[in-house]
This record gives sequence, C-alpha cells and structure tokens, in this order.
Amino acid sequence: MSLKIGKYEIKYPIVQGGMGVGVSWGNLAGTVSKAGALGTISSVGTGYYDDCRFVTKLVEDRPLGSDNTHSREALIEIFKKARKICGDAPLACNILHAITDYKRVVQDAIDAGANIIVTGAGLPTDLAKIVVEKCQEVGKDITKDVAIVPIVSSGKALKVIARFWQRAGRLPDAVIVEGPLSGGHQGAKEDELFKPEHSLESILVDVVAERDKWGDMPVIAAGGIWDKADIDRMMALGADAVQLGTRFALTYESDASDGFKQVLLDANEDDVKIVKSPVGYPARAINTPLIQNLEPRKIKCISNCIVPCNHGENANKVGYCIADSLGDGMRGRYENGLFFCGANVFRTNKLQHVQEIIDELK
Ligand SMILES: Cc1cc2nc3c(=O)[nH]c(=O)nc-3n(C[C@H](O)[C@H](O)[C@H](O)COP(=O)(O)O)c2cc1C
Repeated sequence: MSLKIGKYEIKYPIVQGGMGVGVSWGNLAGTVSKAGALGTISSVGTGYYDDCRFVTKLVEDRPLGSDNTHSREALIEIFKKARKICGDAPLACNILHAITDYKRVVQDAIDAGANIIVTGAGLPTDLAKIVVEKCQEVGKDITKDVAIVPIVSSGKALKVIARFWQRAGRLPDAVIVEGPLSGGHQGAKEDELFKPEHSLESILVDVVAERDKWGDMPVIAAGGIWDKADIDRMMALGADAVQLGTRFALTYESDASDGFKQVLLDANEDDVKIVKSPVGYPARAINTPLIQNLEPRKIKCISNCIVPCNHGENANKVGYCIADSLGDGMRGRYENGLFFCGANVFRTNKLQHVQEIIDELK
C-alpha cells in the first residue's frame, strides 16, 4: 500500500512530521524520503542551521529579525543536504501559519525545491493563492507541481480551508489530522484537549466524513502513533496514512543535538507536560527547568519569529520566547531549552535508525 499526495507517489503510507526548531532538517528528512516514506523539512528557525552560518546578523548567538530567524539561504542549504541523500524522492516542507513572513517562507520553500507544502498552527486559508501565484511566476504547473496539505483538528477546519482554496482553483492534496497526543503545539484549547470529542479517533472520523464531500485526497492521522497496532487502528477508522514525529526525533539521523535527544530519552511518563506557548496554543513538552519556573517576565524580542506574539508581548506573559527556547532545546541546553515531545515519548530509551523504524512499521 502506497501514499499518493497530488502527483507524488510515496512507497509507504508513512509521513515524518515536520519538527522545529532543527529536529527535522536535511539529514532526517532526506533519510526518511530515501527509505520510501515522506520526509518533511521544518522551515521555522532555519537561521539556527549549521551554527547560524547563513545568518547575516546575530545578537549574542541568536539570529536577528524574522529574515535571519527563518532564513531563506539556510532553507535552501537544508534542501540541498536532503537532496544529496534522497535524490528525486518527494520531500515536504512544514511551514507554521503563525510565523512572521509566512508568504515569503512558502515562496522560499518552492525555490528550495519542496514538492509538498504542509501547514498547521492556524488556518492557512491563503496557502493555495500564494502557491498558485509563485508557481505562475517560476513556470511550474499551478495545479500539481507543488502539492498543498493542511494540518487540521476538525472536519470544520478542513471545510473552511477547502472553500478558500477552491477559490484559487485548488483543493488540499491530502489532509493531516492531528490529535491531542502529538508533540509540540496542539489544535485544541487546554481545557478541551482531553475531552472524548477531541481524541484522535473522534476527529479522524469527523475529518474523513468531511473529506468524502470534497474528493478522495488521503487523510493522514497523527499524534501518539507508535507501533504497527496503532497504525492498524487508524487505518480501520478510515486513515489512508499516518504521520509520526517523536519516533523520528529519536533517531541517529534526526538533526537535533545529542543533548536534545538525551532529554527525550530520559523522560518518564510523568515528565511530559502541557504548557502555555507564545504562539497562543497549548504545547506538549518535557518538564525541564524552563517550564518549572514559568512566570510573566520581561523578555527581549530578538527574532520577531511569530505574528501572534507581537514582538514579545505574549512571550512576556507566558514567561519565555518560543524561538530562543526551541533554539536552546535543539542545541541541548537543558537549563533554558524547550523540549517538545509527543505523549508517548516515554516508550523508548534508545535511539534507532530511520530504516529500522520504517522496516518495523511498513
Ligand atoms: C520536537 C517536535 C517538534 C515539532 N515541531 C513541529 C512543527 O514545527 N510544526 C508542526 O506542524 N508540527 C510539529 N510537531 C508535531 C509533529 O510534526 C507530529 O505531527 C507530531 O509530533 C505527531 O505526534 P507524535 O510525536 O506522537 O508522533 C513537532 C513535534 C515534535 C516532537
């Protein structure tokens, strides 16, 4: 059984979720795509790539402003690295809708050679228009050369997105439905996250029903999927494919530092927390010192990384900056870092190779 996203054929119906900052860059995504699944490059905070080598201006050791934080030059280098590994195999790029310069980063991803663009963290009603205009400009087929995929947590969200995209002559080429056991930012408010109607099982069925009204694009289930039994359960509920994040973060090939991986490997079930984020959604992370000491404080905004934070306003309220903290986490700085993970992170204490995971799951 394979996965078809627009014109792109993926040998196995397994997607590696985009993981920022710096967890799924060229090495991880390239290795996953080479192994016959779909690798996804994360486009947030690319300025941190290769010790900030592609950044024109740093403040201490952090990229300055959104141009440097979500660096075009670094994203292009990350794609080059992935292509060296996977050749022409399909590669996706994950772009959070909430980032500053969203439109510019979508255009950069197309220039960098992304075959598929995946967007979550908000309703990306403008993605189809941006992609169509950019494809026109660079002479690509506006209907199929760049596949577009939203991440949703309800059938209603898919409906709204599909209506907007239809106006630009496109529909989603696939849809990812992400449930409350996933790593990083969540699609529901904190007090609603664990209600039965928000379980992956419930929202998957809801999204499949909405998809049926629009066509036959594949539905990809994500959040807490670990083994073959989880995959079989999702397929029985109507999923065409699955997306995994945490398992791929814990591979030798994942692009984060050894320190980042060790924090996740050492985690027990009780160490996994839901925390507030300046992005405006709750997020799942390991209970490290940053989270244990959260209180409103004055934070200097260096990156201007996301629109809802409004140059540090939300960071001050929540008590940390999302770009600085994820950047520190990726570098393995235990005291100040933010370490995103899925709810099932405690299920392993050793790294694996990407190929072993694909062999186990396929
Ligand atoms: C370290 C980490 C970082 C993540 N960053 C992003 C991100 O930048 N954008 C995004 O759409 N999802 C992000 N996610 C979510 C994953 O892509 C994936 O959908 C989710 O983790 C699936 O659940 P699982 O980890 O239980 O497999 C992140 C997850 C992790 C663990």
